[in-house]
Amino acid sequence: MTSEPLTISNEVDPALVEEVRAGLQTIPKRLSSRFFYDAEGSRIFAEIMHSPDYYLTRSEYEILDTYKADFLRQFTPDNRPFDLVELGAGDGLKTKILLAFLESQHVDFTYAPVDISADALEGLVIDVRRQWPDLQLNPRHDDYFSALEHLSNETNSRKVVLFLGSNIGNFTPDEAVDFYQQLYNRLQPGDLILTGFDLQKHPAVIHTAYNDRQGLTRAFNLNLLRRINRELDANFDLATFDHYETYNPETGEARSYLVSQKAQAVEIKALDMRVPFQHGEIIHTEISRKFTRMQIEQLAQQTGFSMTGWFTDSKGYFADVVFER
Ligand SMILES: C[S@@+](CC[C@H](N)C(=O)[O-])C[C@H]1O[C@@H](n2cnc3c(N)ncnc32)[C@H](O)[C@@H]1O
Repeated sequence: MTSEPLTISNEVDPALVEEVRAGLQTIPKRLSSRFFYDAEGSRIFAEIMHSPDYYLTRSEYEILDTYKADFLRQFTPDNRPFDLVELGAGDGLKTKILLAFLESQHVDFTYAPVDISADALEGLVIDVRRQWPDLQLNPRHDDYFSALEHLSNETNSRKVVLFLGSNIGNFTPDEAVDFYQQLYNRLQPGDLILTGFDLQKHPAVIHTAYNDRQGLTRAFNLNLLRRINRELDANFDLATFDHYETYNPETGEARSYLVSQKAQAVEIKALDMRVPFQHGEIIHTEISRKFTRMQIEQLAQQTGFSMTGWFTDSKGYFADVVFER
């Protein structure tokens, strides 16, 4: 397989158009977190990953660094070549630990990062090409779900799917089951998925991670409105919206909202829409679910996978879990 040049369109994403049109007309209003990552959103998220309050990145970094040799043994026990497919790769900060290790061990593999964010993917591709010019790189600018459709017909090599950073937490329980079922249908026996799950812990630790003292998660959430202003010619006044976060330890769900601080109407010219807001009205923007080990085992069972690896950080905050098809 050869490295393909990456061509990315920077046109307005039709999925964003649909999301804004539908999401701002429902009650309660909602916008999906998958639109957070324009250039500025990706830049702010990179800062969040280094923030002292956002433990997720540090925990997963520790796991990947500590157990990289164990992961390699699981990825290719027989030293056969494999395709490392990463769904929602972002800037690949933690994946680069694995890439560096695999390269140092002269492992024969291709790396296929998938991301819906052109900006995130472009940055990652430039970085990987600079650090490892000989690595077989097959980036795909795509949604997880349409990328899954191409999984089975790309090569005959074994697939190892990375789904890091607790991206899985952005799904509802039903969506998570559907996602792993789709993966099950597209993978071959012996293929693997390595998923990063954020675990349930003291609620205050979780709440602070999404409500950090530097105000980064606040800026990240509000940036979604800035993106809509720019791409859809809207006039959200960011000073009149606030960031609000909840964590419910009974459901394990952290939720992010934007709150209108006054009664107002926002014009979205590209969609010919006028969106009224009551004082205090919310837009729900993100769900970040936290898991117990039992829930993760159930997810494997329900979707037909065997759980063959369980790795946690020293605080027990996060788990990287291997499912085998
Ligand atoms: C929270 S970041 C995590 C990045 C990386 N996995 C990590 O652990 O650092 C989520 C990434 O997933 C991408 N993403 C979110 N929803 C997606 C979707 N439906 N399809 C493809 N990529 C998506 C975003 O653009 C973003 O780069």
